[in-house]
Amino acid sequence: MTTNIAEISKLDKSSVLHPFTHLKDFASGKAGDPTIMETGKGIRIKDATGREYLDGFGGLYCVNVGYGRTEVAEAISRQAYRLAFYHCYAAHTTDELATLSHRLVQMAPGKMSKVFYGMSGSDANETNAKLVWYYNNLRGQPRKKKIISRQRGYHGNSVVSGSLTGMHFYHDHMDMPVSGILHTGAPHYYWGAEPGETELQFSQRRADELEALILKEGPETVGAFIGEPVLGTGGITPPPEGYWAAIQAVLQKYDILLIADEVITGFGRTGALFGSHKYDMQPDLITIAKGLTSAYFPLSGSIVGEKVYKVMEEGADKVGVFSHGYTYSGHPIGAAAANAVLNIVEREDLPGNAGEVGGYFQNRMKQTFGPSPIVGEVRGVGLMGAVEFVADPENKRRFDPHLKVGARISKAARDRGLIARAMPQGDILGFAPPLTMSKAEVDEMVGLAEGAVKQVLDELTREGVRA
Ligand SMILES: Cc1ncc(COP(=O)(O)O)c(C=O)c1O
Repeated sequence: MTTNIAEISKLDKSSVLHPFTHLKDFASGKAGDPTIMETGKGIRIKDATGREYLDGFGGLYCVNVGYGRTEVAEAISRQAYRLAFYHCYAAHTTDELATLSHRLVQMAPGKMSKVFYGMSGSDANETNAKLVWYYNNLRGQPRKKKIISRQRGYHGNSVVSGSLTGMHFYHDHMDMPVSGILHTGAPHYYWGAEPGETELQFSQRRADELEALILKEGPETVGAFIGEPVLGTGGITPPPEGYWAAIQAVLQKYDILLIADEVITGFGRTGALFGSHKYDMQPDLITIAKGLTSAYFPLSGSIVGEKVYKVMEEGADKVGVFSHGYTYSGHPIGAAAANAVLNIVEREDLPGNAGEVGGYFQNRMKQTFGPSPIVGEVRGVGLMGAVEFVADPENKRRFDPHLKVGARISKAARDRGLIARAMPQGDILGFAPPLTMSKAEVDEMVGLAEGAVKQVLDELTREGVRA
C-alpha cells in the first residue's frame, strides 16, 4: 500500500495535537509538513517519500534492539492471539508477566523485591513519588514527603514527574512544579564548575549544597532524591568523578530514599546493564521504561527495593489493600514484548556492545569534533553522547540563542539523512543510537554529523557571526 502523503498530511494537521511542536507554525505550514515515518530495519528508518535516515537517536533513546526485529513482533502477535489482555489486579497474572518480573528483580542492581508496571517513564515516576509517600506514611513519618530532584534532570511530563523535571520550559505556563518538589544543582561540570575546581571538588560541592538544602528544609521533611545516573535530556552528561558516592553519603546520613531514573540508562546504554551498576549506585526504587521493550510496546516499571517493599507488606495489616494501579499495569502484550527484547539484550550482549562500540564512538566523536572552533565539549558514555557548541570555547561563551545553532546543525544532519537530536538545554547535538550499532555504522553516523557541523560553521562565518 502506498501512502497518500497529501491526504495523510491533511488528516494529521487537522486532528493531531503534536507534543513539543510550535502549534501556530505547524498549523500555518511555516514549520513544513509532517514527516510520515513508515518502516524501519536495524538502525535505519524510512519515511513515506522513500527517504532513508540513519536514526542516531534510536527513536527517543528507546529502540535499543533496533527496528524490525521479527522475534519481538512475533512475541507480541502470539500474545495478542492467545490473550490480548487481562489485568493484574488482585493477584491475577500471566506467564509472561511473572517471568518478566522475576528476570527484572534478578537483573536490577541492589536488593530489589517487586516490580510495579505502568505505560510510560512519566507514570512510573508518578508511582515512585506515591511509593515514597506511602512508605513514609506507613513508617509513621507523615512529614517526610518532599522529593529533591536536580536542575537539568528529566523525569517525564505528567504532573509530579514533570515537576521533578528540572528545566523551566517544561514548567512554564503549566503551573509546575507542584509543591513538595525541590531542585538542587545540576551535576554538570562543564557549566557548573568554578575556575580551577576539579571534578571531585565539584562533586563534593554539589553534595554539600544538597546537604544544606536538606538541613534548611528539615531532614524530617525530605523523603527521596531522584536522579538519572547520566543526565539525559538535560544535555547527555555523565556524572563528574565521585558524584554519586558523595550524594549517596548525604542521603544515607538523613535516611532519604534514592530513586534511580534508569529510563534511558537501563538495559545497556552506558555499557553496563544499568547505570546504577556503572556508577555504583544503591537505589531504593528504580524507574524503567524505553529499553525495557525497546519501544515495541509501551511498558514501564518501578522496581521496588526490599527496604521499601517490606514496610509496604507489613503495613497491609494496618491500611489494607495497596490502592494503586492502572488498567494496563502488567499488560500481557507488553510483558511478552519485554521478554522477547530481553532475550535479544542477553543473547547479543547489547551492554557489552554498547561498551565496546560505545568506546569507539566516544573516541571518534572527540577526534572529529574536539578541534572544532565552535565546540565547547564532547561528552558521553557508552552509546550516548553529545557535542556542545559555543561561540567561544576558550571563554565558554554561548551562542546567541536566536541563532538556533543546535537546531540548525540537527537540521543540516537530517538533510544529510542523519537523525541526531537538538537537545533543549543549549546548542547541543545528542546521539543515542540503537545498541546494536557497529563500528562501521558509527563511522557513517559521525561522518554525516561532521558534514552538518561544517556546513553550519561555514554559514555562521558567512553571516559574520564568526571571524
Ligand atoms: C530519564 C527519563 N525519565 C523519564 C522519562 C519519561 O518517559 P516517558 O516519555 O515515557 O513518559 C524520560 C523520557 O525521555 C526520561 O528520559
